[in-house]
Amino acid sequence: MPPVQSSIDALIQSLERAGYFADRRLATAVFLALKLQRPLLLEGEPGVGKTELAKALATALGRVLLRLQCYDGLEQREALYEWNYAAQLLHLRAAEGSGQAAQAEREVYQERFLIRRPLLQALQAPEPGAVLLVDELDRADEPFEAFLLEYLGEYQVSIPELGTVRAGAVPVTILTSNRTRDLHDALKRRCLYHWLDYPDRDRELAIVRNRVPAAGERLAAQVAGFVARLRSQPFASAFQRAPGIAESVEWAKALVALDTLELDPEVVTDTAGILFKQREDVAALTRELAGELLQPQDEGGQDIRP
Ligand SMILES: Nc1ncnc2c1ncn2[C@@H]1O[C@H](COP(=O)(O)OP(=O)(O)OP(=O)(O)O)[C@@H](O)[C@H]1O
Ligand SMILES: [Mg+2]
Repeated sequence: MPPVQSSIDALIQSLERAGYFADRRLATAVFLALKLQRPLLLEGEPGVGKTELAKALATALGRVLLRLQCYDGLEQREALYEWNYAAQLLHLRAAEGSGQAAQAEREVYQERFLIRRPLLQALQAPEPGAVLLVDELDRADEPFEAFLLEYLGEYQVSIPELGTVRAGAVPVTILTSNRTRDLHDALKRRCLYHWLDYPDRDRELAIVRNRVPAAGERLAAQVAGFVARLRSQPFASAFQRAPGIAESVEWAKALVALDTLELDPEVVTDTAGILFKQREDVAALTRELAGELLQPQDEGGQDIRP
């Protein structure tokens, strides 16, 4: 088995063994991020496999995955480190009792009172290093983004009481965004960029078959074909939000649970709440439309029903 990083093909295969199906463009972006030791910024619609890529990459590379979930108000102490005040206080109290307060005051800034958060853990991960996932960065606020910029530039952190911590092995860093706001150019410049699109029918079929082996060949193919058509024009414009891969996988599981062997308009509309999470979208998927979407297709997308 060739090493994961020896070629783009080897990387595609290792990701596939980890259950992740990447197309060549994505694999090229990941390959370059590894070779150039640059962070990779992944943007894309919900449920297209941004988070999952980081997980699969960690498995493929045999690295530990460290995940920082971003949200509005995320602060450095939750991302980087904080001192364990409660433990420090207890240590001081105990020392007071035994008359060693002065010594205890010096001791409270030892590493054992440090709580390491993902960004610090990523610098100190043992060989071969970590995969660091900074997930949904668009949800964090701009000061945090500025702080992250500095971190990504140097992969080192200064802890006033302890000194500078440098990365042993540079973490493989994946940043994701759903683009609820634009990230700063300065941050983007630091990263390689990839827009993760919906998969084509064949890749989605591979994913559904892999994730839901209980779905027969025919049902899996119908699910992949149906969702691919749903996302294409003119059908896509009938909906506010197209289903992601996560929804296709869930849908296939639901259909298996309902003992469905083959799609028909009725089962499609009955299970529309799995594909869509908006009331209007569920309503837009009428039986007529479902029937139209289920028409058999040839390779060129033409209706081949006699
Ligand atoms: N390329 C892929 N190969 C295998 N499974 C995939 C792939 N892409 C997505 N999936 C499946 O879709 C699910 C959702 O993917 P994921 O959570 O990574 O999406 P996301 O882009 O991070 O979405 P969000 O923006 O909502 O966080 C995964 O749990 C996985 O089952
Ligand atoms: Mg995600």
